[in-house]
Amino acid sequence: MRVVVAYSGGLDTSAIVAMLAREGHEVITVTVDVGQEEELKGVEERAYKLGATKHYTIDAKREFVENYAWPAVKANALYEGKYPLGTALARPLIAKIVAEIAKREGADAVAHGCTSKGNDQVRFDLSLQAYAPDIKIIAPVREKSLTREKALQLLRDAGVEPPKAHKKYSIDENLWSRSIEGSELDDPRVEPPEEAFAWTVDPRKAPNEPLYVEIEFEKGIPIRVNGEKMDPVKLVQTLNVMLGSHGYGRIDHIESRVVGFKSREVYEAPAALALIEAHRDLEKLVLTPRELRFKRLADDTWTDLVYQGLWIEPLREELQRFIDEVNRWVTGSVKLKVYKGSLWVVGRWSPYAAYSEELVDYNKGWYPSDEEARGFIRLWGLHSLTAWHARRMSH
Ligand code: ARG
Ligand code: SIN
Repeated sequence: MRVVVAYSGGLDTSAIVAMLAREGHEVITVTVDVGQEEELKGVEERAYKLGATKHYTIDAKREFVENYAWPAVKANALYEGKYPLGTALARPLIAKIVAEIAKREGADAVAHGCTSKGNDQVRFDLSLQAYAPDIKIIAPVREKSLTREKALQLLRDAGVEPPKAHKKYSIDENLWSRSIEGSELDDPRVEPPEEAFAWTVDPRKAPNEPLYVEIEFEKGIPIRVNGEKMDPVKLVQTLNVMLGSHGYGRIDHIESRVVGFKSREVYEAPAALALIEAHRDLEKLVLTPRELRFKRLADDTWTDLVYQGLWIEPLREELQRFIDEVNRWVTGSVKLKVYKGSLWVVGRWSPYAAYSEELVDYNKGWYPSDEEARGFIRLWGLHSLTAWHARRMSH
């Protein structure tokens, strides 16, 4: 068979390449660069050493940010209130690119390295079935219960050093987040040790002066940082470094997986968290309370669909059209203050602000008359007061 492997360069997918090559298959590896800097080093060389006959590294960073991360900002996407979906957003894009190459190469099958316990298998399988319905999916880790020990043995047999990044934790990294799983973190009582983190400094060691960052949005999309226009990839990279150096961006939570159980998840996501915080604040300045409340439902549903591997669900795109429509007005700037791991919004401005200083000021400007206020309050509370008194009469 001719098999295209979605190759991360990590331990599991390396073992898959070795295993398929050993079984006599023609292996083509595809590494999609979504900003996973640690893992990309030496990936092509390793693929060939393991027996691949052809390798692709596809730079998809810009597409990842523009078509996956920016929609997530517009949707204020935090799964269960915490996780900015880095891994979940990257999977459908990786699947799309792998499917395109598999079709172009006339492959019989595509292979991925997901386990049967994770969300990623759901995301890969469903996206691949959408983008390349006629190509068989093989998941050697799931099918042959490839353990870490077996994987290491396959690499040794092929005479290839195991990749360094995969020592203690299971890491998945891209521009939007770095997820850290496994080892002592599986015990939810244990505080994550400093060695788990790579993008954020220990807040105790962060600078003693606060950092101010101004982010400018245009139609819901961040375009400038501190007045400097940046391309999407550089903007995310810059914020990750700037905010991470102040100890901001760590997440520790209990996450409900699609596959029926909860897991303890630790992430670093300085840019994603800050952009969502800033964007949400700007929405509050601009949108009506009705828009805000309704959009929350759309946002939460969009976020759940993406987390749950249903990027290809029509409702996801329909919701996105609504979210884009509302974001037409989310233009303006937000000032953030970051200090030793904490972040506050300390100022915001928009040309479309549904906010009026004249209305809030107690000393000047417009005042409802006493009569207007009494009439409003009477009708506003009428349902509730009628029920209140009716229930007291019945005793
Ligand atoms: N729990 C996160 C998610 O479901 C992160 C998964 C990390 N994946 C990995 N292969 N290490 O999106
Ligand atoms: C995996 O099984 O590939 C990692 C965990 C997850 O997908 O949630």
